Amino acid sequence: MQVVVLNEARDSSSAGSGSEWLPCKVRVKKLIIAIDGPVGSGKSTLARRVAQMMGYVYVDTGAMYRALALKALRRGLSLDAAEDLEALAFGTHIDLRAKDDTQQVFLDGDDVTAAIRSTEVSQAASKIAVVPAVRHVLVTEQRRAGHQGGVVMEGRDIGSVVFPDAELKIFLVASPEVRGQRRWREHQQKGDAIDLAHTLVEIHERDRRDRERSSSPLFCAPDAVVVDSTAMDPEEVARLVVMLARERGGASSSAMQS
Ligand code: DC
Repeated sequence: MQVVVLNEARDSSSAGSGSEWLPCKVRVKKLIIAIDGPVGSGKSTLARRVAQMMGYVYVDTGAMYRALALKALRRGLSLDAAEDLEALAFGTHIDLRAKDDTQQVFLDGDDVTAAIRSTEVSQAASKIAVVPAVRHVLVTEQRRAGHQGGVVMEGRDIGSVVFPDAELKIFLVASPEVRGQRRWREHQQKGDAIDLAHTLVEIHERDRRDRERSSSPLFCAPDAVVVDSTAMDPEEVARLVVMLARERGGASSSAMQS
């Protein structure tokens, strides 16, 4: 598998700023910020906003599982055929491209940004994500994409497995009712005919699979900061995380350039 992450903020800042030659420079660093949590806790909104505020790269690892699941569905593969899925993962190219406030996802060159958000793909992604060989391929690519820092990566196992040494780990939670309502609203905005009760069942099923799988289950890393977004405004949560990042010496990309 090859994953390419394109983000204008980091691409421009990494192009030879020359800051390493400046004397008396306070040492600042570009952090790895890991954001994990269950379905509907607000990870994507938070990760995108923090990346924007810090000028960091945003990586949605769920989109990688979703893109691969879509390819498996299109090929008619069984979603528990470990060897077939591993071979599929090795032969797959995923581009994650930042565009304005959103992230576009390309699967082997095709724009699948909308296609990977269907209910069918959500369930399929959570099924292939239990296969250790699939996780191994994707985790390797996620490490490659984020190891230089200056990245906000969201998923289920970022702080626990992908980057256990991340400088800042956030475990985002929210009440099941609020998570269900958020997901249901998203479905409604897309015009999906799905009711709230069905959405709650769907997220409960995915939560259970994420928590109970033997390979990299969803859990809160001991050194993660738990943030409950139930009664918080998304902007408030983002500002809190940026403040924590600054406390840990995190510099934004623009600060590294000046
Ligand atoms: O975050 P999401 O809903 O887009 O993720 C889709 C599925 O992918 C989710 O059900 C679990 C899986 N996933 C995972 O196992 N590990 C990750 N780091 C990200 C997602």
